[in-house]
Amino acid sequence: MIRHQTLNPPPHIYPVDEWKIIERSFYPRFLAQTETLFAIGNGYLGMRGNFEEGSPEVHTGTFINGFHETWPIIYGELAFGFAKTGQTMLNLPDGKRINLYVDDELFSLPSAKLLLFERTLDMRSGTLDREILWETPSGKQVLIESRRLVSLEYRHLAAISYQVTVLNAAATVVIASQLRGNQVNQISQGDPRQAPGFRNRVLQPEVHYLKDQRALLGYRTKESGMTLGCGIEHAVESSCPYTVELNCSEDCGEAVFLVDALAKKPFQIVKYLSYHSSADAHPQELCTRAERILGRALEQGFDELLSSQARYLDDFWSHSDVQITEVPVDSPRPPGETQQALRWNLFQILQASSRAEDTGIPAKGLSGQTYQGHYFWDTEIYLLPFLSYTAPRVARNLLLFRYSMLAQARLRAREVNQKGALFPWRTINGNEASAYYAAGTAQYHINADIIFALKKYVEVTGDNSLLYNEGAEMLVETARLWADLGFYSERKGGKFCIHGVTGPDEYNTVVNNNTYTNLMARMNLNYAAKTIATLRDTYPDLFETLVYRTALDPDEIGEWQAAAESMYIPFDEKLGIYPQDDNFLDREVWDLKRTPQDKFPLFLYYHPLVIYRHQVIKQADIVLAMFLLGNEFSAEQKGDNFRYYDPLTTGDSSLSACIQSIVAAEIGDREKSEKYARYAVLMDLADIGGNVKDGCHIASMGGTWMVAVYGFGGMRDYDGALSFNPRLPDTVRSLRFALQVQGRNLEVELTAVKATYLLKKGMELAISHQGELIALLPGIPAVMAIR
Ligand code: BGC
Repeated sequence: MIRHQTLNPPPHIYPVDEWKIIERSFYPRFLAQTETLFAIGNGYLGMRGNFEEGSPEVHTGTFINGFHETWPIIYGELAFGFAKTGQTMLNLPDGKRINLYVDDELFSLPSAKLLLFERTLDMRSGTLDREILWETPSGKQVLIESRRLVSLEYRHLAAISYQVTVLNAAATVVIASQLRGNQVNQISQGDPRQAPGFRNRVLQPEVHYLKDQRALLGYRTKESGMTLGCGIEHAVESSCPYTVELNCSEDCGEAVFLVDALAKKPFQIVKYLSYHSSADAHPQELCTRAERILGRALEQGFDELLSSQARYLDDFWSHSDVQITEVPVDSPRPPGETQQALRWNLFQILQASSRAEDTGIPAKGLSGQTYQGHYFWDTEIYLLPFLSYTAPRVARNLLLFRYSMLAQARLRAREVNQKGALFPWRTINGNEASAYYAAGTAQYHINADIIFALKKYVEVTGDNSLLYNEGAEMLVETARLWADLGFYSERKGGKFCIHGVTGPDEYNTVVNNNTYTNLMARMNLNYAAKTIATLRDTYPDLFETLVYRTALDPDEIGEWQAAAESMYIPFDEKLGIYPQDDNFLDREVWDLKRTPQDKFPLFLYYHPLVIYRHQVIKQADIVLAMFLLGNEFSAEQKGDNFRYYDPLTTGDSSLSACIQSIVAAEIGDREKSEKYARYAVLMDLADIGGNVKDGCHIASMGGTWMVAVYGFGGMRDYDGALSFNPRLPDTVRSLRFALQVQGRNLEVELTAVKATYLLKKGMELAISHQGELIALLPGIPAVMAIR
C-alpha cells in the first residue's frame, strides 16, 4: 500500500537504456533527485551528482564512509542507559568544483543558452559523463565534455576529465579547478530521518599548502577527533597556450588555468582527487598519503584509470548481473525499464559496499546524509544475501566489521543491564546512536539479524574459519544476551518469553513476545549451541581460546538449548495466524482506506502513541519472518498470515515491498507479487518513497536482488540446502542470474516453462528443483521443466 506518486520521468528526457541512466536535457525540476541518481562512489568515498560548476545545487555532497562527528544527545528528560552520543557522517571538502569562464562570461547552467545537454551514468564504464554545447551571449559555441569517476580499484582516488572546445572562434578561457572546504551539512527540515545539522563549524583546518600543481587541505573534527587529508592535482592536454596560477587558503585550494583557446582546439584538464581519513593520524600525514596517490595517478594517466574501472566492473557484472527480458506488451512502460532499474540497484550496492573495508554500509550508501550515515540491520538482512552469493570478500569484511564492534556491544549490554552483548541498533563508531529507544535500542533483534547473516554467509561460502573464530565469539555473546533477556513464564505454561522489545515493525514498539524476535532469537540460540558444541568436540584448541576470551561456562550451551526449545511463539488458533506480538490483535485496526494520501508516511503526521495503539504496520515483520525462516511455517500458515498482515501494512519503510513481493510469490498471489516487485525495483528511479532526493535506499536495492532470486527464481536456502521453485511473472520472458556457492559458480536461467542450471566451475553440487533432487556436474547443464 505505497501511496506516493512516482516521478514519472518524461521518456524523451530520461530514455531507457539497459546499462545507463541518461538525462537528455537540463531538467532542474528533478535536480534534488538526480543529485542522488547520478551519485558515484566506491564504498569508501562517495560524491553526489552535483554539477562541476556548482549552481544549481540542492545538497552538494562528498562523503567518506564512517568519517563522522560526534555530539551530545540532549534529552528533555534523561533516563538511565539512554544513548549519550550522536554520530553524523560529515560533508567533506568539495573537490568536484570547476568554474568556467569564456571571455569573462561565467558558465552557469541555470542561465546559459544550451544547444545540447546530455548526462549519462554508465554502469559498465563506471563514469558519470556529460556533454554540453553552450552558446555564449556573444555567439561563441563552447563544447564542454566531462567525465567523472570514483575509482573502484584505488579506494582513495577520484578523477574528473574536463574538456573545453570553443568551436567557432578563438576565446579567452579560464578554468578554475577548486577544492572547497567548509561545506554545509544536511539540516533536518522536520523529517526525523534527515541529519540534524551543526550550529558551528565542524572541520577545523590544520594544514593547507601547495606543491607543484597540487593543493592540499588537512582537517580535524572538533569532537570525534577524526582527521582528514585531501588534495587535488592536475594534468593538461592541449595545443592551446595557457598559464596556470595556484592559490591555497584554509578552505580553498585552486588551480586556475588561463587559456588562449584556439578555435576547435580542445583544452583538457584531468583533475585527480584524493581523500584520506583516520581516527587519529595527523592531517599532514594524511595529506602526504594523498600526495602519493595523486602522484601515482598522474603518472599512470586517466586512460589507465578508465581501463581499471571498466575491468573492475566487468568482473562485478560477471558475478552479479541479473538479466531480465520482458514479454513485449502494449503498455506505456518503456521496454528495458525493469532491466535498467535492476542493474542500477545492483550498481548502487557496489558503489556503497565494494571498498567499505573497515566500515559498514550506511542506509543511504554514500549518496546523502539522511540517517546520518548510520549502519543498521539493513546490511545484514537486506544486503548480505546478495553479497554472500556474489561478492564473498565484501560480505566477509562486513561481518568482520561487526565483530570489531563486539567489545562495545558487551559494554552496551551492561548499560542496559544485560549479560552478553547487544549490538547497536544504529551506529557508525560501534556505540549506540539511537536517541529514541522505543524504535531504536529496543530492536534487540539486531543481534539475531547479525547471526542470521553470519549463518547464511557460512553456509554459502563454507568459510568455517570465520565461524569458528570471530563468529563463535559473537555467537556466545548474542546467545547470552537472549538467555538473560528472556524468562520462563508460568502464565505462558513455563515457556521462554522475551518482553519489552521492538520488532522490525516500528509502528508497534516495546511489546511482549514479538514473534519475529522470538523466532530469530531461537535461531540464534540454536546456532550458538550447535556451533559451540562442535567446537568443543572437534576443535579443542579453538574451544579453549573461546573459553578464555568469553569466560564461557560449558553449562551455558545447555541453557541456550533449553531456552530455544521452550521459546514461546504466539499463535492465535481462532484466526490461524501468528500475532505480531502478545497484544497486537487486541488493538484497534487503523482505517487505512480512509487515511488521506497526504498523511503518509504516518510517522510524519501522527503522534507515536496514536500509531502504537492501532493495528497498523510500517514494514514487513511476520511476513519477513516467513521469508527468512520460511521452513518454520506451513504453506497454509504463510497464506493466512500474509492475507491478514498485508492489508495492515503501509509500506512507510522502503524495506517492506521487496519482502512482500517474495512472500506473495510464494503463496501464489501473482498480482501482489508483481505490484510489490515493481515498487521495490523502482523505489529510487521512480522515487516511490518520495525521498530519493535525500539519498538512495540501499536496503531495498538488496531487496530487489532477493525479489529476482528468491521471489521469481523461487530459490530457498534453508540451512544451506539450495532449492528452486521458479515462478516468473507473466510479464517476464526470461531471467538469468549467477551464484557463487562454496567456491562453485552456478548459473541459473529461467523461462516460464523451463529452468537451466549450469555449474560453470567447481565440484558436483546438489540442488533441488520443484522437489526433485539434481546432482549438478560441472559443464553439464541440467534442463528441467517448470510445472
Ligand atoms: C526502518 C528501519 C531501517 C531504517 C534504515 C527505517 O525507516 O524502519 O528498519 O533500518 O529505516 O533504513
